[in-house]
Amino acid sequence: MRDRLFAKVRETIEALRETIRHHAARYHRDDDPEISDAEYDALVRQLEALEQAHPEHAGGASPTAEVGASPSGLFAPVTHASRMFSLDNAISDDDMAAWDQRLARSLGHAPSGYTCELKIDGLAIALTYERGRLVLGATRGDGTTGEDVTANLRAVAAIPARLRGDAPAVLEVRGEVYMPTSAFVALNRRQADADARLFANPRNAAAGSVRQKDAAVTASRDLSIWIYQLGRLEGGPSLASHWDTLDYLASLGFAKNPATARVADVAQAMAYVRNAQRERASRPYQTDGVVVKLDVLDEQRELGFTAKAPRWAIAFKFPPEEQVTRLRDIQINIGRTGAATPFAVLDPVFVGGATVGMATLHNADEVARKDVRIGDWVIVRRAGDVIPEVVGPVLARRDGSETLWQMPTVCPSCASPIVRGSGEKVARCTGGFACRSRLREYVFHFASRGAMDIEGMGYRTVDTLLELGHLATPADIFFLQPEALLGVEGWGETSVNKLMAAIDRARARPLTNVLVGLGIRHVGASASRLLALRYLDLRMVLEAPEPELAAIDGIGPVSAAALRQWASEADNVALVQRLLEGGVVARDPAPAGERSDRLAGLSIVVTGSLVGFTREQAEAAILAGGGKVGSSVSKKTAAVVVGAAPGSKLAKAQQLGVPVLDEDGFVRLLAAGPSVLARPAPSASEPA
Ligand code: IVH
Repeated sequence: MRDRLFAKVRETIEALRETIRHHAARYHRDDDPEISDAEYDALVRQLEALEQAHPEHAGGASPTAEVGASPSGLFAPVTHASRMFSLDNAISDDDMAAWDQRLARSLGHAPSGYTCELKIDGLAIALTYERGRLVLGATRGDGTTGEDVTANLRAVAAIPARLRGDAPAVLEVRGEVYMPTSAFVALNRRQADADARLFANPRNAAAGSVRQKDAAVTASRDLSIWIYQLGRLEGGPSLASHWDTLDYLASLGFAKNPATARVADVAQAMAYVRNAQRERASRPYQTDGVVVKLDVLDEQRELGFTAKAPRWAIAFKFPPEEQVTRLRDIQINIGRTGAATPFAVLDPVFVGGATVGMATLHNADEVARKDVRIGDWVIVRRAGDVIPEVVGPVLARRDGSETLWQMPTVCPSCASPIVRGSGEKVARCTGGFACRSRLREYVFHFASRGAMDIEGMGYRTVDTLLELGHLATPADIFFLQPEALLGVEGWGETSVNKLMAAIDRARARPLTNVLVGLGIRHVGASASRLLALRYLDLRMVLEAPEPELAAIDGIGPVSAAALRQWASEADNVALVQRLLEGGVVARDPAPAGERSDRLAGLSIVVTGSLVGFTREQAEAAILAGGGKVGSSVSKKTAAVVVGAAPGSKLAKAQQLGVPVLDEDGFVRLLAAGPSVLARPAPSASEPA
């Protein structure tokens, strides 16, 4: 019995070790992990616990005492002058308090203070400088032997080829190469366009970009670096703290991360952690935790290292933003334009600080491109407040039982055909407002802020009204009678009156808001504003000929065509008609001065601030005169109107010989037309 148990424990430990080694190699060597970081950490914790509980089996090589994975053989091996350690992890306040107490016990007194740094989610590297020149750049590898990637690292702009100032004889620094999130998104877009392999996350993209045979490829990738540790220093100053070390490195040309902070104790370190977690989503690069380091170097030396990590530092890991779970089904959602968007129905999983049961799959092409199948294990990502998404399948976990998905041909909500036009990325429900899913989204958008701004008309109210059968089109909002809601559960006289008043206020919304509310494709907030300024009246906008629309600066042919198309559809004609019948004004008061054609064909640019006009009023006056509002100065610009504190557009105008007008000149131009431009400009080149 005892023997059997003994063998079982031994087997479990060996199996875990093998699994962990496999995943470590996928992560470190291949840059292509199969499981999430959190799952990996959980495996390591499990193994650590077993090894601790059964010290009789703890002997032999174990990943709990190893760092990373052996090099791949793609690059020349480099033996690190001193081992590149990993870090022990903490995931709770208790872990941190226990660590702090361990330090206090070992030191015999409370630690003198900590430096807190962001844990950058990238690729660890070591840079060696001799007499100020970069001579070697290496990956971490297994901590003892890394890979020589010097040529590639020379292509990273933030890595100085020469140190600034008084360079020491030998310097080795360690840091994390990373790819800013925006660069990662852009890179994947380019990869997709080229039908090339997509990177799962910025970390893999950074690692893949550094571990390239061709340094030109690395150079084409937007990489950066934060340095967080001194490896070796000969012929430099003597340093007393980690904080001073970072300052010293900054003086040599390695930027110190501005988020780095020195704190007095573990309570302050935890406050730093919470703040770093709050700001995580708004940072331009990925962080996966906070590294807390004992600040005083003498105290660090006293504590030393375990087999794997320094005792004087710890990594507090944020809750994972990626997890692996089972994809149970793919369903579609009909949006306000009728677009059918597939989404994943998942086994609920805790990711990025929330439980996720659904995630977007964007469109049918994405489902095909990512090759996700029903029944797959998939990586789910949720960063900050971002909508959770399915990153891709874990191919290694397929067993053949998975099934391919296809866009349904019939709308699940209204049973109308779902059609995908040729050249279109999205499929759409053809049910129009008869599709309840679509109507719900449309009304919600129509009533939202920036559009008709009807307070209280959120999803709950929209659902109630749909349920009661009071909405067949969005315009029905304006025919709603108080009796329709009075007596309905949750609705009293006060709340009904409030809603009716909000609806009434919405009737007078400016034309821009009405246009935004209509949700015409390719006509967003700024195009809506331009159209409102130019036409002042919804009917004028909808009747304007396409070339005229396309000629408006900032509108262009795509929006113009979309607008004409929209205005020609029967559903939309009826919608506008009913909105007007319901009392929606959809007309803006004419700006000061009547409409004319005095400025027809003239593109006029305004720069700096005027006294008698806001920017919008100035633009409205130009548009009301039939002119175009230019956004940049070219030889075709008829005039540049210059107010106080003008931008570079004034210089550009002078350089190109474009007429420059001050505010008085502008007023004359509005009143008299282009004849004003023929005469020498008044002293406008030196505006007040
Ligand atoms: S210090 C001896 N500081 O996290 C101390 N590491 O999980 C060595 N990392 O291998 C590490 N940001 O790749 C340190 N501010 C930071 C870090 C950081 C990211 C990485 C590094 C390390 C891994 C450990």
